[in-house]
Amino acid sequence: MVKILVTGGLGFIGSHTVVELQNEGYEVVIIDDLSNSSEKVLDGIAAITGKTPIFEKLDLKEKVGVKAFFAKHVDIKGVIHFAASKAVGESVKEPLLYYENNICTLVYILKELKKLPEASFIFSSSCTVYGQADELPITENAPVKQAESPYGNTKQIGEEIIKDTCKVVSGLKAIALRYFNPIGAHESSKIGELPTGVPQNLVPFITQTAIGLRHELSVFGDDYPTPDGTCVRDYIHVVDLAKAHVVALGRLLKGNNKSNYETFNLGTGKGSSVLEVVQSFERVSGKKLNYKIVDRREGDVISAYADTNKANNDLGWKTQFSLDEAMLSAWNWEKKVRS
Ligand code: WQD
Repeated sequence: MVKILVTGGLGFIGSHTVVELQNEGYEVVIIDDLSNSSEKVLDGIAAITGKTPIFEKLDLKEKVGVKAFFAKHVDIKGVIHFAASKAVGESVKEPLLYYENNICTLVYILKELKKLPEASFIFSSSCTVYGQADELPITENAPVKQAESPYGNTKQIGEEIIKDTCKVVSGLKAIALRYFNPIGAHESSKIGELPTGVPQNLVPFITQTAIGLRHELSVFGDDYPTPDGTCVRDYIHVVDLAKAHVVALGRLLKGNNKSNYETFNLGTGKGSSVLEVVQSFERVSGKKLNYKIVDRREGDVISAYADTNKANNDLGWKTQFSLDEAMLSAWNWEKKVRS
């Protein structure tokens, strides 16, 4: 079996990707420092696939530990790198925590991959790199703009580091996947999003409000130049997103890549406003959501949704789930977690 390392594999997108990798027949090794996840996620993965992935608790900032890991797992053929801090607001308050955790760890992993005869590397990037794009939908050729946060900057810098490394390390091939807004959960409700503390993201805040954990949803502004005044995003089901990682990895392992460094936008290609997401939730749950309109949130872009042509045509991947299906899966997960 082809062995793949998934860093951050016990996280929200990581765990869903591990499930799809195992379904595809890969042997998966997970590294996670458990700073934003729990070892119990392993049970959820095993309950779905029947296989418990190898798990090593490791802080990737420990350079010596990273070297020792790769010395032990010399047969790793590919890495999908999710492990990173990802709270936009926190990154503004703690920039050095973000630069150390998101950049140094990437460098340490790439230095180990450099020693292998060949390696395929999938990088978890974000549409945040585009900032407020001038043209919509957003293609991969849209200019990367001055990041709005240290978090976004670490994604931009990370892409540059990988691009420069692939130029000089002949056996290294990489794909950066720029996610739009991942939401939802696996249909089994055995894995899903487990935000720590008060959710920063819209959908977990909606489901926690509906289940009674939060009093009401604050909608951050309804005076934007959009059809209903609220911001527009491209909400992609996390299982669709996970499957894209397996397709991208296969592209590199089979040598179908067109260059040693490629980027793909991963979204549905459809924009949905905050209020449309709320209406979708109310439709699928049959519950009225308690929300109020408040002031805008600093740093929010008005509208972002993907041009999916490159991923559809070059990766041969497209999303299968609708917004309603994603919202229902998020609600089912919330009810399961709180049961
Ligand atoms: C979506 C919309 C908010 C919460 C961020 C990161 C991105 C990625 C996904 C990591 C916005 C509105 C939200 C709330 C609201 N993260 N909202 N009330 O900001 O598009 O993207 O998370 O990879 O990199 O930038 O996602 O879910 O925070 O917000 O009105 O309580 O929902 O204003 O318009 P965002 P989000």
